[in-house]
Amino acid sequence: MESDDLTRAYIGARPRSAALAGRARGFFAARGATHFSRVMAPFRPYIVRAQGARKWDADGHEYVDYVMGHGALILGHSHPAVIEAIGAQSRLGLHYGDSHPLEVEWAELIRALMPAAERIEFFASGQEANQMGIRLARVATGRKRLLKFKYNYHGWADELAGAGTAGALEDHITTIGANDLELLERELASGTYACALIEGGGGRLSGRVPTDPDFFRAMPGLCERYGTLLLLDEVVTGFREAAGGWQSVVGIRPDLTSVGKAAGGGMGCGALLGRADLLAALSPDAPPGRGVLHGGTWNAVPVTCAAGVAACGLYQDGAPQRAANAAAAQLRQQANTSLRRAGLPARLYGRSICHIYLGAIERETDADPPVSDTARLVDPGAAARYQRLELQLLTRGIATTRGEVFTLSAAHSSADIALTVEALTASVGAMVDEGML
Ligand SMILES: Cc1ncc(COP(=O)(O)O)c(C=O)c1O
Repeated sequence: MESDDLTRAYIGARPRSAALAGRARGFFAARGATHFSRVMAPFRPYIVRAQGARKWDADGHEYVDYVMGHGALILGHSHPAVIEAIGAQSRLGLHYGDSHPLEVEWAELIRALMPAAERIEFFASGQEANQMGIRLARVATGRKRLLKFKYNYHGWADELAGAGTAGALEDHITTIGANDLELLERELASGTYACALIEGGGGRLSGRVPTDPDFFRAMPGLCERYGTLLLLDEVVTGFREAAGGWQSVVGIRPDLTSVGKAAGGGMGCGALLGRADLLAALSPDAPPGRGVLHGGTWNAVPVTCAAGVAACGLYQDGAPQRAANAAAAQLRQQANTSLRRAGLPARLYGRSICHIYLGAIERETDADPPVSDTARLVDPGAAARYQRLELQLLTRGIATTRGEVFTLSAAHSSADIALTVEALTASVGAMVDEGML
């Protein structure tokens, strides 16, 4: 497909991005990209500006953006309150390497959102919060093993990445399918797991592969029965699904919760929240042999805290979350109606993050996947289709994650959605015409 008409036209209309991509390939081994989800043939557009639900590339093309900072930007790009807070703090200093008022304010706002946050620890990224959660669980339980769930993503580091990533440690890890309570109980009953780590909202960006809410509801009780701690990964869902995150949606109180992305309002961050007795291991007063070291040059940096305080202040009343959820519902409903009317084999499903399925439709529903076999939702054999859709959509001014994911924000308007529905219907139609679907 590299040299077909569509690809040639895409490259021809983007000479500046093409030149940058050429230079990038000399540095960045992933075909010039700096993140696995930014890898694309021939290249993703080089973005120079973003505002609200839109972003613009180096060649002047405008896109309705559904990448939204890999899910971080529930408020949309460059929200004025966040930009103002970053600007004001940067004039006072970027990094004091010291305690400062904003870290306390940010922690207070996070606790107001998630009451399970008896204690909070800040990190540079979401995966660091997960790593610390696992370590604290090991210290508290005296066990090593980690129970994970198929299709869940928690970061690229050792043990988080696990099977399939060369060089990653897989010691002490078992991965099982979610939604099978008997299997979960059998594993937990072995009495060997320090912690069960699961992605809030479902597997992969809040539910490309959905997890039954009742599975989440059963987890705290089962984990407690067998002495395993529950670490809920809310790096995506934290403050996105609802003001109180996924745990407030399903009504559970995990032992430990990781957040990131939206918590920082667009600045890189992570935080581990949870039971005071578990986070007490981070204190220098922890008993000998039970203390956990935590450094990190970028923990609670003042500019990050300023953005976090501004954003988390806006999350408190749930208005941005309701707006993003409503925009997403509108997109799913209108896109699926349009695709169905045109007889096209594609449907959107999900919540504030919408996923698309390309292929024969078994059932019509805007919330759940249109097929029952979950393996088909993440079929590596279908990757070329989604890559083609990514290119088709970019050509029509719509930026998604890998042609698979549409992440909504409070900034997405009815006009953005109308444009998207038209572009999506035309893109899928073009793929049928070219024999890709
Ligand atoms: C559910 C989930 N957990 C953890 C992470 C890792 O967060 P970060 O990229 O900030 O390290 C991600 C990143 O996409 C994620 O989707």
